[in-house]
Amino acid sequence: MVRETKLSVDDLIYPIFVTFGESVRDEISSMPGNFRLSVDMLADEAREIVSLGIPAVILFGIPETKDATGSSAIDPDGVVQNAIKEIKTAAPELIVITDVCIDEYTDHGHCGIVEDGRVLNDPTLEVLGEMAVSHARAGADMVAPSDMMDGRIGHIRKMLDREGFSDTPIMAYSAKYASGFYGPFREACDSAPQFGDRSTYQMDPANSREAMREVFLDIQENADIVMVKPALAYMDIICRVKDEFSLPVAAYNVSGEFSMVKAAAEKGWIDGERVMMEILLSIKRAGADMILTYHAKEAARKLGKG
Ligand code: PBG
Repeated sequence: MVRETKLSVDDLIYPIFVTFGESVRDEISSMPGNFRLSVDMLADEAREIVSLGIPAVILFGIPETKDATGSSAIDPDGVVQNAIKEIKTAAPELIVITDVCIDEYTDHGHCGIVEDGRVLNDPTLEVLGEMAVSHARAGADMVAPSDMMDGRIGHIRKMLDREGFSDTPIMAYSAKYASGFYGPFREACDSAPQFGDRSTYQMDPANSREAMREVFLDIQENADIVMVKPALAYMDIICRVKDEFSLPVAAYNVSGEFSMVKAAAEKGWIDGERVMMEILLSIKRAGADMILTYHAKEAARKLGKG
């Protein structure tokens, strides 16, 4: 009766890596229990997720071809576009969110268009707008831009509205830090930047007020949900965003955070299940309304649904 925070399966969003090919179910070595799945493997996956009571998934694409402008990101027949259709057919009630960012689709691994070794903000917006529209057209319920270019939320909103998707909400990765915790994800997607790093567009871990500025701008540009990423080293940011703004707050419990728990548990140094539940509960206590996490299926089982 006096518990202040409750973790529920309704709070969870499960990330899925979609790859090209057929019958692919390839475990990501640094993320035990998580797989790269080809489109034909998604129907069963989606039904399992629904049976566990998890309300939503977020899709990341691993395309067959990468180029300088990430053109496979806007292919109507691309991995994510096809994945959306497959999942919505197999499990229409499952909310499909898509990550909108070109780093998985560019050969240089950056989240933007590159010229003379610099990542260009404004030309990137054009591709992001097209990518969001192509996801909405394929049936995505919500788009989640994760690139951290300035002005992207406003531009994507304008493009979605213009193309008839005014009801498609935007979950903005608003305060996304240039973090070492993304390591396993970049291995999973083969998306590590081939030169430099992402610090010209992602945030400095030293900054908190800047995060409030970024969130404020995204809200002004009509974001529907704002996200803080990563979660664990940024609990103070989750708490501040929750206190200062009224929009729903999402927190991304990222790949490195997941892998640390798995690695330590494997060595017998911690009780993995207990630490997982403690982490997820604490992210909620900090102020998150929803949590993107690779633990989602395990946590859902533990929470007793399905
Ligand atoms: C960018 C993106 C990244 C993650 C989610 N979206 C990688 C990055 O910024 O390098 C990382 C998520 C994770 O580590 O779990 N498309």
